[in-house]
Amino acid sequence: MSWWRSAVFYEIYVRSFQDTNGDGVGDLPGITERLDYLNDGTPASLGVDALWLTPMYPSPMHDFGYDVRDYRDVDPLFGTLADLDRLVAAAHRRGIRVILDLVPNHTSHEHPWFVASRASRTAAVRDWYIWRDPARGTGPPNNWVSVFGGPAWTWDDATGQYYLHSFLPQQPDLNYRNPAVVRAMEDVIRFWLDRGVDGFRVDVVHKMIKDAELRDNPPSDPDDRDPVRHFGGMQHLYDEDRPEVHDIIRGWRRLLDRYGERMMVGEVYLFDPDRVAAYYGDASDELNLAFNFRFLWSTWDAEAFRIRVGEMERLLPAGAQPTYVLSSHDAPRHRTRFDDAMHGGARARLAALMLLTLRGTPFLYYGEEIGMRDVFIPAERVQDPVGKRFPGLGRDPERTPMQWNAAPGAGFTHARTSWLPLADDASDVNVARQLHDPDSLLSFYRRVVWYRKTAPALLSGSYHALDSAPDTFVYARESVEQRLLVALNFASEPRRVDLPLRASGHVVLATDRSRAGSVSDAVTLAPAEGVVIAL
Ligand code: GLC
Repeated sequence: MSWWRSAVFYEIYVRSFQDTNGDGVGDLPGITERLDYLNDGTPASLGVDALWLTPMYPSPMHDFGYDVRDYRDVDPLFGTLADLDRLVAAAHRRGIRVILDLVPNHTSHEHPWFVASRASRTAAVRDWYIWRDPARGTGPPNNWVSVFGGPAWTWDDATGQYYLHSFLPQQPDLNYRNPAVVRAMEDVIRFWLDRGVDGFRVDVVHKMIKDAELRDNPPSDPDDRDPVRHFGGMQHLYDEDRPEVHDIIRGWRRLLDRYGERMMVGEVYLFDPDRVAAYYGDASDELNLAFNFRFLWSTWDAEAFRIRVGEMERLLPAGAQPTYVLSSHDAPRHRTRFDDAMHGGARARLAALMLLTLRGTPFLYYGEEIGMRDVFIPAERVQDPVGKRFPGLGRDPERTPMQWNAAPGAGFTHARTSWLPLADDASDVNVARQLHDPDSLLSFYRRVVWYRKTAPALLSGSYHALDSAPDTFVYARESVEQRLLVALNFASEPRRVDLPLRASGHVVLATDRSRAGSVSDAVTLAPAEGVVIAL
């Protein structure tokens, strides 16, 4: 079985994991220092199998690294290329894979390609980006809007044309209709694979190709005469998810496969699950994995989770592997989203038990294993361009420094201030506090992650949802060797879950550590309690 099918991935927001040089920003040597926490080969560590590093390339940081100035180097803020090589080697010695964030849709406006493209209309690389004359007199070429708000076109005075940017004006979109661009990005892919990285998380992969004629998007609401106010105001028929994108992905997959055990997981930020599923191709020729973000947008509702899982199980081509994620650097943390006055802590455990026992590849987000919450960011400390434009909607709250211990810098930094504020509760909610407490959330994550490695039904078994009481989510995971029943109670009251007819078994995992022993006929779960029963 390919390693990425059984792996638990861990997303590291590089700026916020561990600072070693005292500038208040995380760096690559910091990650190397913390590898034993992530997986030292024993159940004392978290046990994750693969790391996804957010962009560490040289960047003017308008979008914190998602605006790349040089695809083949490391920003001095994070270290050097040699630091990255050391990190990858040290991770590999521990059996941990490392994937990088490939950002192909756009570069920084400071990337030499864009600088050259912008220099004149006749530049050899003019066509590497999407330049157009004004339409409708003096206006932008069409009605597309940026994901981050405002028009997706910026006027360039020097050469008298507009250029396209799906995100910030400092992130011009590359033109993948030009084969030279496809080849240039393949060179980047080769550069990193030759250096030994295990693959890529591919940023907004569904956006890489736009409509050849750049047609206007229709409004979401037919009566809306001015859909150009925000991204949700229009149907994104022409500025993303175009059929030709699959040709590029197939080419990249062929390239990856030539290297053997490498992989790519794509950020297909689309709402419709069938459109996401299409990015797997026939399950062997496009993305190895595509993110399924539906849990990020789900409320605390057993039925909603069951439906979301069921639709992916139904839609994916045979042989394709689903993915699940509860939190990321682009969405509020689930410890906060799923919080409630009484059961917040229990819900975090239940959600983790679900994430790690579904059929699929789970992606953890740094800090979720200790229950990190979103952090309030005062207006004067907002960093995210989205937060600056839309107060209250920025992504800083979920990007704050990792909480390692109760020291003033939370063990993250020796600097007096970190790039984003630390959580107020960092002296309470931290790794040091939870590491030796068998009842902590961290200990629970470790138990489940390490159990998973030994459980064939979880690693490769089938998934089958069972009918169950309201507010519960019950499923079977079965392989030749093993049959497991996962029973999760989302209710704030106890719920009885019946075992399949005449079945009995014993508890192998439970959100409540005191629950153990054998079960027959039925089990009554406490509020927000979950168990895994071996039948
Ligand atoms: C992706 C990234 C996000 C970034 C955007 C533009 O959605 O996850 O953080 O801002 O792409 O690159």
